[in-house]
Amino acid sequence: HSADKANFKWSAPSNIALVKYWGKKDNQIPANPSVSFTLNNCKTITELSFEKRDNNSGFSFDLLFEGQPKESFRPKIEKFFERVGAYLPFLKNYHFTIDTQNTFPHSSGIASSASGMAALAMNLMSLEQLLNPDMTDDYFYKKASFLARLGSGSACRSVKGNVVEWGAHNDFLESSNLYGIAFPYVIHDNFKNYQDTILLVDKGEKQVSSTVGHGLMHGHPFAEQRFTQAHDNLSAIKSALESGNIEKFIAITESEALTLHAMMMTSSPYFILMKPNTLEIINRILAFRQETKAPVCFTLDAGANVHVLYPESVKEKVLEFIKNELVALCQNSQYICDSIGNGAEKY
Ligand code: PMV
Repeated sequence: HSADKANFKWSAPSNIALVKYWGKKDNQIPANPSVSFTLNNCKTITELSFEKRDNNSGFSFDLLFEGQPKESFRPKIEKFFERVGAYLPFLKNYHFTIDTQNTFPHSSGIASSASGMAALAMNLMSLEQLLNPDMTDDYFYKKASFLARLGSGSACRSVKGNVVEWGAHNDFLESSNLYGIAFPYVIHDNFKNYQDTILLVDKGEKQVSSTVGHGLMHGHPFAEQRFTQAHDNLSAIKSALESGNIEKFIAITESEALTLHAMMMTSSPYFILMKPNTLEIINRILAFRQETKAPVCFTLDAGANVHVLYPESVKEKVLEFIKNELVALCQNSQYICDSIGNGAEKY
């Protein structure tokens, strides 16, 4: 690799929050700390080729999605480069070609911003490392997460695995509003290889962008209580993850998902992002749990899709239930089997 012309390739996974980030301050600073499972199969794979330009001819880039030019992604990437420019002063000397693909169907309603921004950030750090070979691994990963955050807040949790915390919190000495950290405590074996089956209920365009959504927390009547609750839930889920208390884990995770939606339903203007089948699926999961005692629970993003979370030990039983009862409630019967994973990987 020469710093004049070379290319890198990184993959980064999506992540699913357990304690939700909802509400932000300027510069992508979260209003409350959050914690997520890093996923394993839902990934963005991005190849970054770069070429040094002489005499400050300026920064430029070409954008390919699955090998084809994709102009509709350009504004998001442009904004990302504008934000990270101050932290990567060498960018202005390069022309980039960004070639990106997702392992999950695009327009599946699965947000690719977390995995996409994280994969791009990893590549940019590889270039910085080429220019500054003495940087530590710790610096590399922290700064990658920092840069990813500037693209999309939750993307800072996609750099590392398997559980990532983001945002200043008293129980996490190393925590920061600026980047995510790998969960610094020993996680109980009950959560080892935890499963996430994503039920695609509605693949339509998002009704409300997450930027607008976060903005609705400014002046929200319940904002302060919500931010305090997130801190408390983070403490509680930390203990549950350490002690292996799945019951407590379930109670917090489901309450967080419903609270996220409750915040949107009580915003001004308000949004209802669940669909009838979202509720039907939730009710069936609750009934299945009551009947079988299988420790399965749901969580939601800022949309209609349902993430079904469960330990590997009940995988067979839960997948059978999902196939028999829940898949028919998905759009085009689509669902994705995933599990917790290790974060970004270099090719
Ligand atoms: O990263 P953003 O700005 O798209 O926000 C994502 C927010 C949620 O996915 C709803 C919650 C979270 O913590 O990931």
